Order: sequence, then C-alpha cells, then structure tokens
Amino acid sequence: MRNRCLVKCVLPLVLLSLLIVGVFGSGAAEQDPLRPRVPPELLEEVKAITNPISSTPKNIQFGKELFEGVAICSQCHGVGGKGDGAVAVNRGLDPSPRDFTNPEFHTARTDGELFWVVNNGSPGTAMPKMTGLGMITEEQAWYVLTYIRTFPQRAAEAAP
Ligand code: HEC
Repeated sequence: MRNRCLVKCVLPLVLLSLLIVGVFGSGAAEQDPLRPRVPPELLEEVKAITNPISSTPKNIQFGKELFEGVAICSQCHGVGGKGDGAVAVNRGLDPSPRDFTNPEFHTARTDGELFWVVNNGSPGTAMPKMTGLGMITEEQAWYVLTYIRTFPQRAAEAAP
C-alpha cells in the first residue's frame, strides 16, 4: 500500500517539480544581441566615437580589475563574461545580460556603441547607466570596455 502511494503520489510530484525547474529555472535568453541599442537618430554619431585607451596587457588588466571589482559589471555579466553573474541568475534577469564571449556581438558593435550603453543604460532592460556620481568615471568605462573586447579570444583559447 505504502509503495503504491510512493509511485502514485510522490512520483508525479517529483516529475512536476522537475518540469517547473526545466521551464522556469533555465535562465532567460538574450534579446537579439546583434540589434543596435543606440537610438537610430544618434547611431551614426555614436558609432564614430573611438576608444582612447590602447589595448595593452597593463590596460586590459586594469579593466579586468574594474570589471570584477568596483565597477560591479561581473555581478550581472559574470566573471567569465557569459551573462551568468549572481545577480542575473538570482533575479532571473530577462533579457539576460550580454554574453561578451560571442565574437559576432563584438563585430556588430563599434566601441562608441558600447560606450553609449555604459553611459546611458539599455532602456527596457536591467542594464543600468554605470557612469557618473558614485559610479565609475567615463575614463574607467573605457578601460572596462578594453577588457570586455578581449573575452572572445580568451574564450576561444580556453576551449578544448
Ligand atoms: C544589474 C545588472 C547589470 C550590471 C550591473 C551591468 N550590466 Fe551590462 N547589461 C545588463 C543586461 C541585462 C544587458 C542586456 C541589455 C540588452 O539586451 O539590451 C547588458 C548589456 C550590456 C552591454 C551590451 C550593450 C549592447 O550594445 O548590446 C554592454 C556593453 C554592457 N552591458 C556593459 C556593462 C558594463 C561595462 C558594466 C559595468 C560597468 C555593466 N554592463 C553592468 C545588465 C547589467
């Protein structure tokens, strides 16, 4: 009798909870990562902005320290840049933060476009404006972006 209940009552519950985790716990997806985030009327001007920081090992290292430290980017974007940081996972951010290891995303964006999003946020998403009072400076943002540009190459090197 007891064993029967185990199959009839408990098993369906276990299966149901697995289903719920499968549907809701798998994490949200990115919102079309190749579509520009800068408003169309500003796009041409913003695209032309260039990064004043050169991509030297020292500058990349400084950008990494900011990304994982005071700039708090990694809390959403993840230390590995895949968009799976603790805040993104715990809050189930939808759309999810950008996966910086995706080379196609980097090809689709100029430095100016990335800089604009860090300065303005991405409207309608959890990506906040990150520069200004109590946050990072515009100069620091450029170091962070110099680091972010290096994710695809490091991800490729790490792949087996
Ligand atoms: C609270 C969570 C959160 C934090 C903190 C955060 N981001 Fe994001 N970020 C997001 C989300 C969500 C998106 C996806 C937005 C979208 O799809 O438009 C995103 C997208 C981006 C993009 C892609 C913009 C594009 O053109 O598609 C860049 C660049 C970016 N973040 C840089 C940063 C940097 C640099 C920091 C730290 C200074 C940072 N983010 C901190 C959540 C966050």
